[in-house]
Amino acid sequence: MKINIAIDGPSAAGKSTIADRLAETLGYTHLDTGAMYRAVALNAIRKGIALDDEEKIVSMIADMELQMPADGRVILEGEDVSQAIRANEISMGASDVSKLQGCRAALVEMQQRICKDGGYILDGRDIGTVVLKDAPVKIFMVASPEARAERRVRQNKQNGLEADYETILEDIKKRDYQDTHREHSPLTKAEDAIEIDTSYMSIQEVHDAVLKIVKEKTGE
Ligand code: DC
Repeated sequence: MKINIAIDGPSAAGKSTIADRLAETLGYTHLDTGAMYRAVALNAIRKGIALDDEEKIVSMIADMELQMPADGRVILEGEDVSQAIRANEISMGASDVSKLQGCRAALVEMQQRICKDGGYILDGRDIGTVVLKDAPVKIFMVASPEARAERRVRQNKQNGLEADYETILEDIKKRDYQDTHREHSPLTKAEDAIEIDTSYMSIQEVHDAVLKIVKEKTGE
């Protein structure tokens, strides 16, 4: 039987990369929930809506056409915005809109609807604590801010995006603070989540460690 798997942790801890690989190994689908907050931020900025205007953002989401196909692309109003949502400005913007309870409620509902039949790996900040409270496998992935900044620099260079180490490190620290101190669903480890520090682990090592946990839990 296909279960749902929850992966939470701070930005650039390796959640998305691992979720992708694991989905491939297990024949599951990866749903990047951070990309959904990013799409909301991008849409709001494009429409000139202030990122703290909860009422306008909530009604914008109600009308927003957002598709998250299984191939990992993010389609906003028919346009492929997979790259556009990775810009630094949108990272901060996503963190801003994710503070709004109305925005969270709308996206959580969408996420739960998408994965209701199982076979999904969701990565985000509130998956184990809110979205998939009953998930049999919950992973909390952490890494030092420096290790995460280095990874983001490498990733951004590959994607032709802003790649200054100091700027990215500062940004990561600022977002960590904001994501862990917000009022609604702040980033916290679920009581039943297993913590993995990926600072000194390769992608393959993390993948294998999570796969072992999944196999133990599913008995496969
Ligand atoms: O994972 P990411 O860096 O793409 O996420 C962008 C922002 O969205 C992040 O700063 C916090 C927020 N987020 C959230 O609050 N809850 C989630 N489930 C996923 C992301």
